[in-house]
Amino acid sequence: MKRYLQHPIALWVAFIAGILLIACQPNASVSSQTPNQNQSASPAPFVSVAYLDRPLSAAPAQLPPLPYDAGALSKAIDAETMRIHHDRHHQTYVDNLNKALAAQPNLRSLSIETMLRDLNAVPESIRETVRNNAGGHLNHTIFWQIMSPNGGQPTGTIAQAINQTFGSFENFRKQFNQAGGDRFGSGWVWLVRNPQGQLQILSTANQDNPISNGSFPIMGNDVWEHAYYLRYQNRRADYLNNWWNVLNWGEIERRFQASQQSGR
Ligand SMILES: [Fe+2]
Repeated sequence: MKRYLQHPIALWVAFIAGILLIACQPNASVSSQTPNQNQSASPAPFVSVAYLDRPLSAAPAQLPPLPYDAGALSKAIDAETMRIHHDRHHQTYVDNLNKALAAQPNLRSLSIETMLRDLNAVPESIRETVRNNAGGHLNHTIFWQIMSPNGGQPTGTIAQAINQTFGSFENFRKQFNQAGGDRFGSGWVWLVRNPQGQLQILSTANQDNPISNGSFPIMGNDVWEHAYYLRYQNRRADYLNNWWNVLNWGEIERRFQASQQSGR
């Protein structure tokens, strides 16, 4: 009988011990999860410089529609220039890229951004073609989005960052236009977040994009003659000045905030 009494008591003791053991578990699980959470949070999230929320596909590359009517930016750019620029020039970059990648299934599975971040991984025989046409596709995809019929002045965190970095919006505008005017031949002028995390104005030749040098392009203006020649002929400075009337500061703010998350 005594043996039977002892047995339930032993079970009861074991039960209490079990409860105590379980009571200790939450602390152990919190401390073991914290490093895991830190590990998963440490790499910078992928941020597409084309669309922010999804990469620019090369399988196949496709011409994105203009987000407004061709004549909507007439405060700075006439409708015919917009149509030729988008429907023919941008389309040509897309077509030439697809031709170059037709026999390269491994490359086509990469995003345009990945290709341009590591051009040395592209076979030498098509490297220059990819550089120019993937760059042209990416640059113009950004360009259409950061313009809008409304224009206006920057607000929010991008306005603060511009003031801190350049002293004032007016100084920024002058320096940006100067860099665009100084670009010899064809190219782009950009506001980027550089690898040191600072805002910087820079210009690139041809269709090079700042991501090839580790910077995040926040906004950029196309200073190829095809972007302005019908209305402005050789007066690039006038085009650069008028362009500020058609900027989409909401989108530029969104890109600035994404650039900070990207770690680039
Ligand atoms: Fe262009």
